[in-house]
Amino acid sequence: MEAGTTDQKRRTALVTGASAGIGEAFATHLAAQGFDLVLTARRLDVLQKIAERLQAEHHVNCRVIPADLTNPESPRRIFYELARDEIEIDVLVNNAGLGLKKSLLTHDWREIAAFMEIMAVAWLHLSKLAIPSMLERGYGRIANVASLAAFAPEPPGGLYSGVKAQMVTTSRGLRQECLGTGVHITAVCPGYTHTEFHSRLGIPDLAKKMPRWMWQQPAAVVSEAWRACERNRPVVVTGRANKMFRLMLALMPYGMAEKNMPKSIADVRNRGRA
Ligand SMILES: NC(=O)c1ccc[n+]([C@@H]2O[C@H](COP(=O)([O-])OP(=O)(O)OC[C@H]3O[C@@H](n4cnc5c(N)ncnc54)[C@H](OP(=O)(O)O)[C@@H]3O)[C@@H](O)[C@H]2O)c1
Repeated sequence: MEAGTTDQKRRTALVTGASAGIGEAFATHLAAQGFDLVLTARRLDVLQKIAERLQAEHHVNCRVIPADLTNPESPRRIFYELARDEIEIDVLVNNAGLGLKKSLLTHDWREIAAFMEIMAVAWLHLSKLAIPSMLERGYGRIANVASLAAFAPEPPGGLYSGVKAQMVTTSRGLRQECLGTGVHITAVCPGYTHTEFHSRLGIPDLAKKMPRWMWQQPAAVVSEAWRACERNRPVVVTGRANKMFRLMLALMPYGMAEKNMPKSIADVRNRGRA
C-alpha cells in the first residue's frame, strides 16, 4: 500500500514554501507516495501550476493556500481554512525560508523581525496547530527543513545559523515529547542545494563558483529526508559531503571553524556592509 493511503482515508500533507526548490520537491515526492496536498507560499500563480501538475501526474487532491509567513496571523489562518473544509493534516513540512542579505546591524529592523517570524516562529506555530490532531489519530510526520548551517559558526552579524540551530534543537525536544505516539519529527539539514535560494540572495551564480560535489539537487535532499522521517530520526544531514562537513564541524574548535568559514558565505554577508 502506498504511504499516503490507508484502508480508511487518504492522508494529507501540508508543505510550506511549496512554490520552489526543496518545498516543491517535497510536494512532488509526497504526491508520488499518494498523499493529498496542501501547498502554501506567497506566489499563488506558481502554486497553482505546481498543484495542476501534481494532480495530473499523481492523481492526488491538491489545494493551494497563499500565505505570507512573515505575518504572525498566517499559521492560524491556514489552519482555520483547513478546519472549515474538514481537512486534517497528517504530514507537515516546515520548509519555507530565506537568507538575509545583510547583518543584524545593517538591516532595517522590520526586515529582521519578518525574517525571525518566518524562520523562528511560524514553524513552531504551525507545529503547535498540527500536532494535537496528529496525536489523537496516532499518526503524524513533521519534517523541519533546517540546514547544515545549524552546526556552523555564525558569520559576522548573521542570524541564519542561529535560527537553524534553534530549529534543530527545538525539533529534537518536540520529537522527544511525541515519542511513542506515532508522530515522527525530523530536522532536515541540507547543505548547498540547487534552488532559488541563492538567486534571491543576489548570488545566482554561486553554484558555478563552487565545486559541484558540494551541491545537491532538491529531489535527493527530499528522498533522504523522507526516509529519515519515516524512521523517526531526530536529525538528518543530507548527502555524503555534508555529513563529512558536519563531522569536521563537530571536531573543530569553534574559533577555528569561524576563521575557516567558506569565502562564499563571508562574501554574502560582507556585501551588505558595502
Ligand atoms: N538552497 C540551499 O542551499 C539550502 C540549504 C540549506 C537549507 N535550506 C533551507 O531550505 C528551505 C527551502 O529553501 P530553498 O532552498 O528551497 O529556497 P527557495 O527555492 O528560495 O524556496 C523558498 C520557498 O519559501 C517560500 N517563502 C519565502 N518567503 C516566504 C514568506 N514570507 N512566506 C511564505 N513563504 C515564503 C518561497 O515561496 P514564495 O516566494 O512564493 O513565497 C519558496 O517556496 C529554507 O528553509 C532554507 O533555509 C536551503
